[in-house]
Amino acid sequence: KQNLPRLKVTLVVLLFSASLLSSGNGGKVLVFPVDGSHWLNMKIILEALHSRGHQITVFRSSTSWYVSESSPIYTSITIAQEQPQNIESQDVMTSFLERSMEIRRNKGTLWAFFEFYRNLFQLFGENQKDVAKLVISIFENKTLLRQLNETGYDLFLTDPAFPGGVLLAHYLKLPLVLNVRWISSGEGHFAVAPSPLSYIPAVFSHFSDKMHFSQRVQNIIFHGMLVYMHYYVANPPFQAVCEKYLGDNITTFSLVQAADLWLMRVDFTFELPRPTMPNVIYIGGFQGKPSKPLPLELEEFMQSSGEHGVIVMTLGTLLSDLGPEVSETFASAFASLPQKVVWRHIGKRPPTLGNNTMLVDWLPQNDILGHVKAKVFITHGGTNGIYEAIYHGVPVLGIPLIFDQYDNIIRLTARGVAEIADVTTMTVDSLTIALKTILDPEKPYKQNMIKLSQLHHDKPMKPIDSAVFWIEYVMRHRGAAHLRSEFYKLPWYAYHGLDVMAFCVTSVLLIISIIWVSCRSCINILIKNRKSKPE
Ligand SMILES: *[C@@H]1O[C@H](CO)[C@@H](O)[C@H](O)[C@H]1NC(C)=O
Ligand SMILES: *[C@@H]1O[C@H](CO)[C@@H](O)[C@H](O)[C@H]1NC(C)=O
Ligand SMILES: *[C@@H]1O[C@H](CO)[C@@H](O)[C@H](O)[C@H]1NC(C)=O
Ligand SMILES: *[C@@H]1O[C@H](CO)[C@@H](O)[C@H](O)[C@H]1NC(C)=O
Repeated sequence: KQNLPRLKVTLVVLLFSASLLSSGNGGKVLVFPVDGSHWLNMKIILEALHSRGHQITVFRSSTSWYVSESSPIYTSITIAQEQPQNIESQDVMTSFLERSMEIRRNKGTLWAFFEFYRNLFQLFGENQKDVAKLVISIFENKTLLRQLNETGYDLFLTDPAFPGGVLLAHYLKLPLVLNVRWISSGEGHFAVAPSPLSYIPAVFSHFSDKMHFSQRVQNIIFHGMLVYMHYYVANPPFQAVCEKYLGDNITTFSLVQAADLWLMRVDFTFELPRPTMPNVIYIGGFQGKPSKPLPLELEEFMQSSGEHGVIVMTLGTLLSDLGPEVSETFASAFASLPQKVVWRHIGKRPPTLGNNTMLVDWLPQNDILGHVKAKVFITHGGTNGIYEAIYHGVPVLGIPLIFDQYDNIIRLTARGVAEIADVTTMTVDSLTIALKTILDPEKPYKQNMIKLSQLHHDKPMKPIDSAVFWIEYVMRHRGAAHLRSEFYKLPWYAYHGLDVMAFCVTSVLLIISIIWVSCRSCINILIKNRKSKPE
């Protein structure tokens, strides 16, 4: 009998905590992702939000095969689309890669410079149009809009590389959080923080933060190409949507700038230091996690490498499309090394393959990089792989293929933790030398990478926890306007202080001319007086 009240208390506590877990702190999040590899990033954040009890709704196009229709962590809203977006299509990406390689072979020519951008603008331009069409379908579906409005979401989460979600968030008047590195005009920081081109390398410039005069001139040209892309390629389809559905004076760019919070997929162990803003939160490396034990066969192979260790290579699914010669070059170079090699290879087995190399269709990348025998990571330079290498302290040989990959590897070479090999000029010898250099115990690649890894881990909060904290912060406070600078509402001449400068210069000139005119008239009067005075 005496136990009864205690049981009651326990029950009440249990019920209370259950209600807290299920609905008490759970919010409703609406998500408009970018398809393709960006979705992999977004999904990691959604999984973390789901485990915190939030309800998640995701927009997807009917042609998407990355974003599945049903999932245990979210409900989806499927929007009909006629054809897959470029970034969803293996064929389009393959021909883009082939064209990119042809352009790379002619590196340094004016033709290659313009053709590089033409190739890129074509891929992105069409994709932007497709996403804008998707957004129009949503704006045209009044039933759907009413449902979305009535559901009462707490937050809109989107990746603004294709800024459809930004327009929807504005229409639904929801607090907006961006999961971002790229926007339609290049790197995300350029929209929100001061970005002097004297020490911030433009995307595709392949420069680091130390540029001499001629590089700084080129840097402005590289930046100019992206500004052109924004105004003439990426923005027009969305601007049309803005004008039709959101009102006259709204630009897509200002809606991006008005986001409450930027979850930036950047960490300064990797990115070069630059100015930033209070509403930019750095979550680079949020995909990092401790490694798990390897499958038995792989573990035995790793152990069999002895003191030499293992080289891990994966270039994604695209390398098989580079032709058999490239694979043979890699195979021959590997065969000449004392290390063992695990190579994720899709396609024909190269005839020059040595008996130290194991081909696999798939590898548990994070677990293998966390293995004590992993010595070098050969990667195309996507950010997922790079952050996993930093997390586990494995130096990198970069084989950049497309997009930002070259710039990514440049950032690692600037830290002394990587070497670059160009797939269009690479030979067996140059590849072997690059690998031997990184593996040389006299050289500091490994120590530098371990130092970088320590810096990356030394933070008050894991990046993924930080992402979740700040998303919940924006939900709790219905936005984060107090963290957002309103600079973007200034006209360009006021932003750069040109009006004030013009005012100051005019004032100074005016004062000087007044003084000059008055002095002259004084002198004239004096002279006149002296002349008129009789001797
Ligand atoms: C509009 O949205 C509703 C609710 O999501 C859906 O059932 C309907 O099929 C959509 N209509 C069109 C024309 O796509
Ligand atoms: C959303 O619903 C509110 C009332 O709940 C209404 O005042 C508002 O006009 C609606 N907005 C849109 C865009 O339909
Ligand atoms: C749009 O901007 C123009 C000029 O800046 C202004 O006159 C007009 O009132 C604005 N319209 C709206 C709807 O805010
Ligand atoms: C691998 O090949 C090398 C040279 O080609 C040879 O010396 C060695 O015995 C081979 N090892 C195995 C396990 O077959």
